Amino acid sequence: MEITAIQGDITTLEVDAIVNAANSSLLGGGGVDGAIHDAAGPRLLEACRPLGGCPTGDARTTPGFDLPALHVIHTVGPIWHGGHQGEAELLASCYRRSLEEADAVGACSIAFPAISTGVYGYPKSPAARIAIEILGSTSTQVKLATLVAFDAGTLALYDTLLRT
Ligand code: APR
Repeated sequence: MEITAIQGDITTLEVDAIVNAANSSLLGGGGVDGAIHDAAGPRLLEACRPLGGCPTGDARTTPGFDLPALHVIHTVGPIWHGGHQGEAELLASCYRRSLEEADAVGACSIAFPAISTGVYGYPKSPAARIAIEILGSTSTQVKLATLVAFDAGTLALYDTLLRT
């Protein structure tokens, strides 16, 4: 699987699936979650309601509705509590489970936000390392994964790690 990094707004990407950094209720929120629900329209929330939430580290898939992306893969990242409560394993699981969900819908292209590094406070550098480590080592039918940074600092982390 090819891995690239860009800076931009994930809601604009015409890929098979975009990943949402959701919370366990799957009922929307701020950050990228809010942007995705705004862009997808109210049908996204209607599709999320019957799912009954999602545990941290797991993922659920819905259609993309008004988004250019066909699917939204909602994953729930860990809240950072200092790194001694299994946060790294849970974040790794978000990337792994999102690829499994992408395979289940036959997605060839997927875009990820920097899961957990906003409201959930996960330090950007270790989070970027986990993202690239898992995407680079998980077998999947997905051909292209795009890491979408919303800020230049996150993009610089991805670029540095992808060059090594
Ligand atoms: N496109 C791409 N990335 C974005 C966008 C966007 N439109 N908007 C925000 N981001 C970035 C943030 O800058 C951050 O790098 O997504 C990353 C994840 O930040 P959050 O959206 O705050 O997500 P997270 O840290 O996982 O916290 C999840 O926040 O919005 C609530 O409902 C959500 O409770 C959940 C929590």
